[in-house]
Amino acid sequence: MLYQHTCRSFCILALLLVSSSIVTACEGECIVGITNAFVGNYSDPVARAMQDIATELDTTVLDPARNDKKAAIMYLQPLWDQYREDAHDKMQTAVFKNYFHGKCQDPKTNIDPPGCPNPDCPVVCGTPGSMVHFYSTLRYIAFNCTARLLESYITSNSPAYQKVESTILADSKQERRRGFRFRRDICQRIDGCEPEDLERRSEKSQIRALFMRFFALLAKKCGGQDGKLNGLPYCSWEVDMKHYILSFP
Ligand SMILES: *[C@@H]1O[C@H](CO)[C@@H](O)[C@H](O)[C@H]1NC(C)=O
Ligand SMILES: *[C@@H]1O[C@H](CO)[C@@H](O)[C@H](O)[C@H]1NC(C)=O
Repeated sequence: MLYQHTCRSFCILALLLVSSSIVTACEGECIVGITNAFVGNYSDPVARAMQDIATELDTTVLDPARNDKKAAIMYLQPLWDQYREDAHDKMQTAVFKNYFHGKCQDPKTNIDPPGCPNPDCPVVCGTPGSMVHFYSTLRYIAFNCTARLLESYITSNSPAYQKVESTILADSKQERRRGFRFRRDICQRIDGCEPEDLERRSEKSQIRALFMRFFALLAKKCGGQDGKLNGLPYCSWEVDMKHYILSFP
């Protein structure tokens, strides 16, 4: 009897805990699913922004007579691989750990505001209802996270970017000319300057500047104009996403 009673209370308690965690927060499958959905949806605009950089590299930096006629986009492969490796973690952190987390309840009254935790909760908290209510914020977080992640590889001079840079330099127009066109005159006025260094440095900064356009290029793919994001109409996926988000209990 005592045993049964204990079991029953325990089971009810366990059930309550399980059901409350299902109802009140986006966890487990919900977090993974929504993260994957944004990363997956972004792979197309990210790839197209990278293609724009590749096209620009092809016309301004790469030697048209490079040996194997490698497609310009191939030079970006290490960055793409690194992005694919990091994107999920970064997205999950940006969306859930840094923003949509915690309870929706008023901490003073312990009462859930109307619409909370679901389906449309006007409090920032870790539930599908909150993500739906603050969808414009969610949309911006996903965009910013994606754009800044790529940028961070350039600004930190990451191994992936160094690899990209060195293969581009090896096949650049400058590399071809290097044999006969040293800027000795400028260089002689700088202590310790080797003519190659100066050209290399300006070439590196030209390439870097091209890659640093990624944020602006991605913004444009997403429907931004004149430096404004305009609600990112092509990277919103609002109807599908809200529907998907609310498919989690
Ligand atoms: C974006 O993700 C949602 C949820 O997974 C999906 O329904 C939709 O088809 C995706 N849209 C695109 C353009 O990939
Ligand atoms: C954009 O993303 C960067 C890098 O993840 C982050 O440091 C920054 O706070 C974000 N900006 C906004 C306005 O959320």
